Amino acid sequence: MGIRKILTDKDPALHKVCKPVVNFDRKLHKLLDDMAETLAEANGVGLAAPQVGILRRVVIVDTGDEILELVNPTLVETSGEQTGAEGCLSVPGKYGLVTRPNVAKVKAQDRYGDWFEAEGEELIARCFCHELDHLDGIVYTQVMDRFLSDEELDEME
Ligand code: NI
Repeated sequence: MGIRKILTDKDPALHKVCKPVVNFDRKLHKLLDDMAETLAEANGVGLAAPQVGILRRVVIVDTGDEILELVNPTLVETSGEQTGAEGCLSVPGKYGLVTRPNVAKVKAQDRYGDWFEAEGEELIARCFCHELDHLDGIVYTQVMDRFLSDEELDEME
């Protein structure tokens, strides 16, 4: 286990399309374990492999109940809409106004290669969309309406 360095969006790794995972081996398990430790340390909700410099399609999401490990994830269904504040560990100290689906269902492989589906609402749906975007080199600042001011953030809390 180990904490990995979280890259900022100035790093080219955050703007590349990630490759699918083909080997469900110890190296992948170590990456997932390290990402979970890194996410906990940073107090975040989600983390994508490119944020720690690994250009593979791997995402983790802390649902509050568990750490969901999503390998080679795709969005299979979305519904509704939510507009709210969104942040990213790679864009420290800032939040933007982003519109996302209110419900999102993803299909992914687990660390052993078995396929499963997971559905999230509100914050978790937002997180699924945000983290999957990272795998295609997209940071939320590219899809946001605008950055939020401190005053606006205070009002939203
Ligand atoms: Ni992010």
